[in-house]
Amino acid sequence: MLALGVAACVTVATAARAADHPGKAAFDQYCASCHGTAADGTGPVAGEMKVAPPDLRKLGEKYGTPLPKPKLREFVDGREMVRAHGTSNMPVWGEQLVHNVPPTANTEFFKRGTIILVLDYIETLQLKSSP
Ligand code: HEC
Repeated sequence: MLALGVAACVTVATAARAADHPGKAAFDQYCASCHGTAADGTGPVAGEMKVAPPDLRKLGEKYGTPLPKPKLREFVDGREMVRAHGTSNMPVWGEQLVHNVPPTANTEFFKRGTIILVLDYIETLQLKSSP
């Protein structure tokens, strides 16, 4: 529950500078290797991938702002991927994120909260931000 609570607070505070965003650490740890620390799709391993990691600063162009986080979360944690992409070049973070978290009733909340926090951070990086 705690993670969800934090995510909800952050949603309200998206005006905060991206560098100070609490989702940045998780993004840098789990996403930046492919999508780049600037989320522009130029991470260190991007060149070695069959499918180039997309520029996540353009998610707003594609999906609209504010970003449809529940939908994107399903993509990131692997649920949507199965249906939409068949096989995917994007890791299934739903499982990755909970590797070092004890499997308790809160694990699912932690997972969702972390992904939402990261998506909140990505929202602050959009090239075309909300009006
Ligand atoms: C191993 C490299 C890699 C890592 C790490 C990675 N991604 Fe991705 N990501 C990709 C690739 C490649 C695609 C395109 C997949 C496709 O089209 O099938 C993608 C697609 C996406 C999309 C969909 C973009 C669109 O235009 O629909 C989102 C959102 C996304 N990633 C977010 C994240 C987040 C958040 C993280 C960290 C939790 C992350 N990614 C970590 C490689 C990666």
